[in-house]
Amino acid sequence: MGENKQNINWFPGHMAKSFRKMAEDLKIIDLVTEIADARVPVSSRNPDLDKLLQNKPRIILLNKSDMADEKATNDWIEHYKKSGIVAIPVDCKTGKGVNAFKTTIKTAMQDKLKKYAESGMAGKPIRVMVVGVPNVGKSSFINRISGGAKAKAENRPGVTRGNQWFTIDKQLELLDTPGVLWPKFEDNTTGEHLSFTGAVTDRIIDTELLAVDLIKILTEKYPEMLKSRYSLDEIPQDEYDALCLIGKKRGMVIKGGETDTLRAANMLLEEFRSCKIGRITLEKVEDYA
Ligand code: G4P
Repeated sequence: MGENKQNINWFPGHMAKSFRKMAEDLKIIDLVTEIADARVPVSSRNPDLDKLLQNKPRIILLNKSDMADEKATNDWIEHYKKSGIVAIPVDCKTGKGVNAFKTTIKTAMQDKLKKYAESGMAGKPIRVMVVGVPNVGKSSFINRISGGAKAKAENRPGVTRGNQWFTIDKQLELLDTPGVLWPKFEDNTTGEHLSFTGAVTDRIIDTELLAVDLIKILTEKYPEMLKSRYSLDEIPQDEYDALCLIGKKRGMVIKGGETDTLRAANMLLEEFRSCKIGRITLEKVEDYA
């Protein structure tokens, strides 16, 4: 996959620093909640986390499930279950699935809570670190689960300054972390998929090329949605021609009757990102079988 795609990588210095901070903070963490994007559940999971977390218990939240193909999300949840990984679909825009998370954490940490109680530390809460790529919905998740509570200002021993704690209830505290990517994506597909969803900034991307590749994927996976959104009788075989036609349909025409393809590309990406084309999952279990 990904031979003809843009070679996208984005790992500014602040991300490297944040990753080092996470490694330090992990020492006092009981469990990690990894927020992934339900539309790209593979590309939005940081492979460097595996090395960092080692045997730390982990729960995956497939966020933005309201924008993903429901069947594909259910397939992923089943897939994780078979591999012994707990994953929950969530929609932090409405809060759907967020309460299931609380219950799941406490069930997963039952033994630890029992140990705390037996050793006279009955009040000690479970400490959970929340991690994820930029824009995946970490702030929305924390806002939802904490009911908009403000972060605690105090610092704690062993915890790097800058990361914020949220008390959810007597048994649960969350540590927020900044969105991080990793130094080099495994292949061009990863960078591209993270650009489709907005985890990688458009500042470093050729958005016309990106839109053309999105058209290619949508033509393969969701042709009816593409046709319906842009009133296309047929999708032109050449993706660039398709972009021109889509732009034309939206009146994005410049002098000489040509399509303003940059405007059309940005519009298409925006409409994908805001789910206007439809509920779409770009990475399905069967693609990785
Ligand atoms: P981050 O902290 O990981 O960077 O992500 P953040 O919560 O800021 O969310 C990034 C964008 O994704 C926000 O949209 C947010 O509303 C949206 N979002 C988060 N979770 C969900 C979800 O489950 N479903 C949907 N549909 N959207 C979600 P924004 O356009 O940047 O801001 P706004 O629309 O909230 O004003």
